[in-house]
Amino acid sequence: MTAKATFYLTTPIYYVNARPHLGHAYTTIAADAMCRYRRLAGDRVWFLTGTDEHGDNIARAAAKAGVSPQAYADEISAAFRDAWRRLSISNDDFIRTTEPRHQTVVQAILQKLYDAGEIYFGKYGGLYCFGCERFYTEKEAVDGNCPQHLTALEFIEEENYFFRMSKYQDWLIAYIEARPDLIRPERYRNEVLGFLRDPLQDLSISRPKSRLEWGIPLPFDDRFVTYVWFDALINYVSALGGPGAPAWETFWPHVEHLIGKDILKPHGIYWPCMLKAAGMPVYAHLNVHGYWNLGGGKMSKSIGNVVEAFQLTDKYGHDAFRYFLMREMTFGLDANFSEESLVGRLNSDLANDLGNLVSRATTMIANFAGGVVSPHGDPGPQAAVVRDTLDKVRRDVDDAMRAFALQRALVAIWEFIAIVNGYIDAVQPWALARDPARRERLDGALYTLAESLRCLAILLDAFIPGTAAKIREVLGLAPQALVDLRWGGLMPGTRVSKAGALFPRIVAPVGIHPEGALGAPRVGSVAMDVEGGKDAGREPAGARRTSAPAAAPRIPIDAFAKIDLRVAQVVSAEPVPKSRKLLKLRVDVGEVAPRTIVAGIAEHYPPADLVGKKIVIVANLESTTLMGVESDGMLIAGSADGRLAVLALDRDLPPGARVR
Ligand code: MSP
Repeated sequence: MTAKATFYLTTPIYYVNARPHLGHAYTTIAADAMCRYRRLAGDRVWFLTGTDEHGDNIARAAAKAGVSPQAYADEISAAFRDAWRRLSISNDDFIRTTEPRHQTVVQAILQKLYDAGEIYFGKYGGLYCFGCERFYTEKEAVDGNCPQHLTALEFIEEENYFFRMSKYQDWLIAYIEARPDLIRPERYRNEVLGFLRDPLQDLSISRPKSRLEWGIPLPFDDRFVTYVWFDALINYVSALGGPGAPAWETFWPHVEHLIGKDILKPHGIYWPCMLKAAGMPVYAHLNVHGYWNLGGGKMSKSIGNVVEAFQLTDKYGHDAFRYFLMREMTFGLDANFSEESLVGRLNSDLANDLGNLVSRATTMIANFAGGVVSPHGDPGPQAAVVRDTLDKVRRDVDDAMRAFALQRALVAIWEFIAIVNGYIDAVQPWALARDPARRERLDGALYTLAESLRCLAILLDAFIPGTAAKIREVLGLAPQALVDLRWGGLMPGTRVSKAGALFPRIVAPVGIHPEGALGAPRVGSVAMDVEGGKDAGREPAGARRTSAPAAAPRIPIDAFAKIDLRVAQVVSAEPVPKSRKLLKLRVDVGEVAPRTIVAGIAEHYPPADLVGKKIVIVANLESTTLMGVESDGMLIAGSADGRLAVLALDRDLPPGARVR
């Protein structure tokens, strides 16, 4: 991305007839991440959001609530501002269409178009949807119903003012065809060109006051108010002070809009025609995202609506919510929201991949180097992969952001996280720390880790700014920019403190079946306990003193004697590919060669913490295959309230010792 460019990004202005919800939050968060990224790139950025406060829908909602439209708009607009403040949205301005600064510009543009003959008075009869506040053609109607609301369209005929939009049809087609990425992704460009295959009608831009008073009066005929879409679209210009104002001169030539696919037609067709008629340049890009649907996963049944879904931001934390929305939705396509998938990503991507990396790396720097990153050291040949990956990831993130593909940018960043985690496993700093002769290698490895965290803090800053700030804090660093994303920027001697858990691991709620078990699946009850699973919480109230599960039926001692329990020493531990929960352990049980066992503990233990530990396994279980890995035994672990502890010895015994 060219540094020092100018960038002006807008979200739709949201109707004040509904409280802020998941859909609004997604658009606003995506815009926020984009603007933060462009600021990190050194660009001059202006980020606008706001509320759309006129029209039938608002007037009716206010009447229903028994308050004036203005009072109603004041309250809900404040709720939007409050929601964005709580989410640390970095907007530079917030426009309300009831503000005088907006009304003045709308009226000036109307007058200019009227004077230029672009607006005429006429009569129109057609099928009208009061929900959408627009006419539909016979072709667009679905069995006489509004295609959006599925409610009956009403035939209304009235005198109104019309904008001569039809005369811009050929110009608009040519304009879009000459600019392949004006409207993106391409599917939406094609959709707009599809609309333009039918003759474009002139646009009714007024509503008679006899029917609706809640709007901006036409400057040339006060019997009418302005049609809400004509009023609303102009916010993008009025917020800059209107055509010719200094902020408009600076930012307008670089404007990009971000919208959901539901409002493609006003932005893809009305708006460019309006701009052309008023002598203003058309936007640089119209970025269109898909829709969030609710439902699908089991837990999402509990999410009644999009407002409730938005409230999960407080339950799981703002960064987790932001990350999930941006990572889960492929830009331009629809996505499904469920609490279950949010928790899944929180545990695997945030707590496991990122959180563990930060806590492992900082703990090792604290424990093995007194918390100071040494200037000297030999990071070993594996460090080249980390540096090369950083270069690649920086380019991939930039390409993705140019295309508004937020999810691709995050995938690239997580590739870097995986490489750094792999570096730790490969160089095993804990083993280097045991050998004073390998001090140089240890110092080099610890520098590589600290420097990777510094780079990660920059890469993550646009997406999960709270987390990026926490990472900077353990490194004692001030915010940095994209130009600082070059290997070697960390000053030797930097003091590093141990990071706490960046993301709490969420235990899957009742009903969610963990993908694996602690060893063989047939010992289901043990496995379920890992997650407080299947039977947890089903006891009748008062049946137990504590939250301990109910006792199992008693068995004779010889039944227990059949279980061959042994001391085992963990030789190595690594994640099972594609699994969130499983670790593959190689354990020494005093036999000729170590055994492989698979354990569902990945969300509770970083693999490195297990190496060298003496644990207890069931050695005589029939072997089983979990996620493609054959498991020859099962480790024993206890669990309660979502916490899990692997059984270890309080005194030393050799591998293979019997446990009874
Ligand atoms: N006021 C108009 C926009 C005028 S812009 C000049 C409007 N407002 S709205 O409150 O209905 O907001 C619509 C926008 O909210 C969508 O374009 C999208 O950005 C966001 N979303 C609302 N529901 C959504 C989903 N379920 N999924 C994704 N985004 C959605 O239309």
